[in-house]
Amino acid sequence: MQVLEKEIPIIEPVKTGKKFFLETYGCQMNFSDSEIVASILKKEGYDITSEESSADVILINTCAIRENVEQKTRQRLTEFKALKKERPSLVIGVLGCMAERLKTKLLEEEKLVDMVVGPDAYRSIPGLIEEVDNGQKAINVLLSREETYADISPVRLSENGITAFISITRGCDNMCTFCVVPFTRGRERSRDPQTIVNEAKDLFERGFREVTLLGQNVDSYLWYGGGLKKDFDKATDEQQNSAVNFAKLLELVAQVSPLLRIRFSTSNPQDMTDEVLHMMVKYENICRYIHLPMQSGSTRVLKQMNRGYDREKYLDRIRAIRNIIPGCGVSTDIISGFCTETEDEHKETLSLMEEVAFDYAYMFKYSERPGTLAAKRLTDDVPEDIKSRRLQEIVDLHRKHANESNQNNVGKVYEVLVESSSKKSPNDLFGRSTYNKSIVFPREHYKPGDYVKVKVLYCTSGTLIGEAVK
Ligand code: 5AD
Ligand code: SF4
Repeated sequence: MQVLEKEIPIIEPVKTGKKFFLETYGCQMNFSDSEIVASILKKEGYDITSEESSADVILINTCAIRENVEQKTRQRLTEFKALKKERPSLVIGVLGCMAERLKTKLLEEEKLVDMVVGPDAYRSIPGLIEEVDNGQKAINVLLSREETYADISPVRLSENGITAFISITRGCDNMCTFCVVPFTRGRERSRDPQTIVNEAKDLFERGFREVTLLGQNVDSYLWYGGGLKKDFDKATDEQQNSAVNFAKLLELVAQVSPLLRIRFSTSNPQDMTDEVLHMMVKYENICRYIHLPMQSGSTRVLKQMNRGYDREKYLDRIRAIRNIIPGCGVSTDIISGFCTETEDEHKETLSLMEEVAFDYAYMFKYSERPGTLAAKRLTDDVPEDIKSRRLQEIVDLHRKHANESNQNNVGKVYEVLVESSSKKSPNDLFGRSTYNKSIVFPREHYKPGDYVKVKVLYCTSGTLIGEAVK
């Protein structure tokens, strides 16, 4: 039977004449979520604005991971509240992890906002805005076991038109004792791989040249036709045999085009397999860079954190990366002063850093989060000044390693994907190597989206400076 292709008319949304302003804090996942929110609102006829003063709706997509991040959000909300005094019809909404954590508190006790929406409830935003317009306070913080927003084609808010995020899982089942994410983002769910590949294809056709696959723990990605990972054992044989794990997903996305670079974040030492590393070698367009949070160098502290690996296992994964992908860039997350951490255990963190010499690190002081397992069961007993001093030692050591890593790149030639003009000079271009190093070089005739071979001439603390070679 012949199937006739029917042209599907594109239905333009009916404009509401209303504008929304959307501000985002926190991790890449939050930025990716904001693109989903923007897509949902645009479909309902709202226009986006970059000026809060001309907005009818102000949304702030929040992070709850550390207390200081939440404080910044509260400060912004107070500023927005002042705007609402001038324009009472303005709708102010809090989205994301802080909304999920505080629920009705922001509406009722602190009276800072009109609308509170958790990470799994973004489809309900247009309806909630209507409720607010009708004089009610609106809230939806239901967490879901299925929602992956798989069918939503996100509006790209990143400005360069070259790099984009694609979320592949939502939520996290790991229950690290310090972390609020399992409570604010719910159970881990994987998204249908076909929708991920389609999104990557669509981006490539629109001129994008790099996608970053996002998940709280990408190595844990598993698709067998829907359902939670923990129920995989109950799936049929057929479902289990045709399941797609993270390595396979990487392959599917890498095959979209050799000109499309693939990055991913975050990897997890307890789940990262050699299969993933071999897949990275098989496809040159999968970038040679892995973000592998260590959190601590002490096996006892890692146990207290419920990280699911010890110091030796972490080192084993680093050795595997270095053996299978020589030269692979590695970055990490480190927490200083976790509950009961001794001076010797802190020194173990420094010595693990010495053994690995990370190219890049995100370093934090431990911040107790209400409701987490650590808040319930452990004592936040490392004094603030000691946490700060330990953090400073970690930062200083990392600076030394990052500098050495950058110096190592001087004199070498790297293929750079050009992303944009350099922030400092319109005569220069900015891009990154496969190892995720930022490189700036004179523009000549090159443009964003080009792959250019660049020789590194020297480096500043965070950037390599070079010139194109023929
Ligand atoms: N205190 C300090 N840092 C934290 N992180 C997560 N929760 C906390 C907390 N309560 C850090 C971890 C994680 C990164 C995203 O944030 O290092 O990997
Ligand atoms: Fe939080 Fe641990 Fe999940 Fe990362 S893996 S989001 S640190 S619970």
